Amino acid sequence: LRKVAVLGVGQCKWGMLADRTVHDMIAEVGNAALRDAGVPRNLIEAVYLGNVTGGELCNQYTMGSVAAHALGIPAVPAHRYEAACCTGAIGFREAYLAVANGVYDFVLVIGVEKLNVGDMDRTVEVISRGFDSWEGRIGLLAPSQYALYATAHMHAYGTTREQLAMVAEKNYYHGSLNPDAHMQKRYTVEDVLAAPMISDPLGRHDCSLVTDGAAAVVIGPLEKAKEYNARPIEVLASAVGAETSTTASRESYVSFGSTRRAVEAAYKQAKLGPEDISFVETHDCFTITEIINIEDLGFVPKGEGGAAVQDGYTRLGGKIPVNVSGGLKAKGHALGATGVGQIYEAVKQLRGEAGERQVPNAEVALTHMLGGAPSISTVHIFARGY
Ligand SMILES: CC(C)(COP(=O)(O)OP(=O)(O)OC[C@H]1O[C@@H](n2cnc3c(N)ncnc32)[C@H](O)[C@@H]1OP(=O)(O)O)[C@@H](O)C(=O)NCCC(=O)NCCS
Repeated sequence: LRKVAVLGVGQCKWGMLADRTVHDMIAEVGNAALRDAGVPRNLIEAVYLGNVTGGELCNQYTMGSVAAHALGIPAVPAHRYEAACCTGAIGFREAYLAVANGVYDFVLVIGVEKLNVGDMDRTVEVISRGFDSWEGRIGLLAPSQYALYATAHMHAYGTTREQLAMVAEKNYYHGSLNPDAHMQKRYTVEDVLAAPMISDPLGRHDCSLVTDGAAAVVIGPLEKAKEYNARPIEVLASAVGAETSTTASRESYVSFGSTRRAVEAAYKQAKLGPEDISFVETHDCFTITEIINIEDLGFVPKGEGGAAVQDGYTRLGGKIPVNVSGGLKAKGHALGATGVGQIYEAVKQLRGEAGERQVPNAEVALTHMLGGAPSISTVHIFARGY
């Protein structure tokens, strides 16, 4: 395989974007990534686009072609990828494989989602199609599934509601430092605990936001990247893990097998371990998810995730900062865009361009997404290629 690098990144402000369409978000982030990469657009050989709900909520399928048209490169192959919350990360991985295998040189990857369309019940119903539809019919939607995992983790390891709330407080704090974040307000642990209950033990502030947003990256072979961009960020690993697609048939309710399989493969590919990672962007769809993830990714022993958050281990300035962008909790969860948005954050941090939320001495970044029950997981590892 050839070495692959990210040459350029672009992102719009995330939030409830009533005045924006998927088309103009794609144009903004795609053009920004191309400018940042310094690669002329006539050298882009393909567009890989992650989007989940465009057909249902925005009356737009074939969004890959829509993106290629909007960016003035209508004759290149352009496809849409979908894997629930892993969508953008899977689009990135497919593009990575194409470049690594020499199929294409320069590829544009875009993640885009517009979820706030004036009917939240419909949006939540469409989001829930990323989970097993049989289980959905008996009420196992995202908050109720992850509430089961929270209860199991509390029962097995003594994790507390306060520790869950500390994940939210931390990510709101990080989001307050990120001008692109959906939510820039800070909340205390007490605020989080006082919020209305959604699915016991998860309150409103334990749940990720329903966000509109987009992000884009340009990738290419590392050696050629250097001709266009003095600061390429190398992809050290790209891995996918899988597990059963129903909640009822899971291997465990306190650990995600898809994550463990993906991260094992990623560490092997990068020839690195958790001790080498400077910061992590991980899928905090619910506060409990971040706690389970930092355990499954190997940053703390199983069962100690809650205590690690309580000790400030995962806060900006702590041993392993987690979700310094604000994560899905505060930067927001724009389904198909979230995985690409994590890569935007990784690149900005590794280049030292993350402003107030900059992780000191950021050398190696790990990004991690989950999709479905979770039935799929992606892990990517990045470091400076210059
Ligand atoms: C939690 C959730 C159900 C909304 O809760 P709700 O109590 O019905 O909230 P409402 O939509 O009535 O909004 C009420 C207020 O809470 C805010 N709010 C909504 N969701 C919020 C969230 N997740 N976190 C913090 N604040 C939230 C709204 O902005 C609104 O604020 P305002 O009164 O200042 O305008 C919704 O955010 C949700 O479903 N999140 C999870 C999405 C998901 O499952 N994604 C896939 C994950 S795998």
